[in-house]
Amino acid sequence: MTASTPQVVSEHADALKAMMGGLVEACQVFRAEPDKIIATVSEKYGLQPQDAKSWYEGVELCPAFVISEPALMRTLEVLKETGVLPPQVQASPNHLIDSRLCHLIHDVTGIKLYDKLELVEYLYRSLRHINKHKGAISFRDVLLYDQHHHGGVKALEECAKLLSINDKSRVLNVGSGLGGPARYLAGQFGCEVTAVELQRSLHVAAQELTGRCESEVSSRVHHIGLDFNLAAFALPKGSFSAIVAWLTFLHFPRPDRLEAFKRCAELLSEGGQVLLEDFVSLAPLSQAEKDQLQESVFCRYDLGFD
Ligand SMILES: C[S@@+](CC[C@H](N)C(=O)[O-])C[C@H]1O[C@@H](n2cnc3c(N)ncnc32)[C@H](O)[C@@H]1O
Repeated sequence: MTASTPQVVSEHADALKAMMGGLVEACQVFRAEPDKIIATVSEKYGLQPQDAKSWYEGVELCPAFVISEPALMRTLEVLKETGVLPPQVQASPNHLIDSRLCHLIHDVTGIKLYDKLELVEYLYRSLRHINKHKGAISFRDVLLYDQHHHGGVKALEECAKLLSINDKSRVLNVGSGLGGPARYLAGQFGCEVTAVELQRSLHVAAQELTGRCESEVSSRVHHIGLDFNLAAFALPKGSFSAIVAWLTFLHFPRPDRLEAFKRCAELLSEGGQVLLEDFVSLAPLSQAEKDQLQESVFCRYDLGFD
């Protein structure tokens, strides 16, 4: 995040844009060639390849021309706490950004549906029960616990058939949860999968499970713990032959959803395909139905639901 006075932005807007563009490109290279980057880091810093790989998977890079409201407000607090700004400064998020350089994204981190420790706790309790809570596992061992969509494995088989997924496919899974669908597609069909998950607790558990799987799976599934609209900036354009999402887009407020569709179009390679399983309203909804959707599944009708 770069902070400056409006005058500095006006004087140097082009230079600032060019700097951000350079950072975005550097990140795309970093994400596009994991094997090359891991090998270079391992050689240059004398690390074991496995350690370089762990480092690579732990790096979260996200230069983007967008910023979330909580991040912005937290920055304002920090600037006040550290005395850079006087404590009485009050500002609304829209007045803190310069729309020539970036725009505000809505706070989707408020999803409370899954970000309950109980979900991860339940997972590990179940795995303990079958003695798979540590050590090596197969992606098949955890299928009962890592699929959070309708139809379980059957839906994944159907997806693979519809999109002709095979060992040449490069799949992007938006809203990957505990990583079950990503591991299954990689393990069963030999494709590479990039799995993007917003919620930290789920992302961390997903990474942990994938890391313990057979190498055919652990080497092919790449986890990114970020809002998809942010992650998309760091992913190489035109590089995915398939984009898949199960019950994810319903959580996006309307402006973010439109943005996400644009990002998906950019990320697809020529002839690439998208499969989304999601809620759609077939008829106008009553207020009671809207309230129920909002409360029970965090479906963001408030900012556009059609
Ligand atoms: C119903 S779950 C499905 C998880 C997984 N696809 C599966 O089928 O097991 C939807 C997931 O989308 C994630 N999600 C929602 N909004 C997101 C966003 N903006 N970026 C990335 N992930 C998001 C949620 O955190 C949740 O884990």
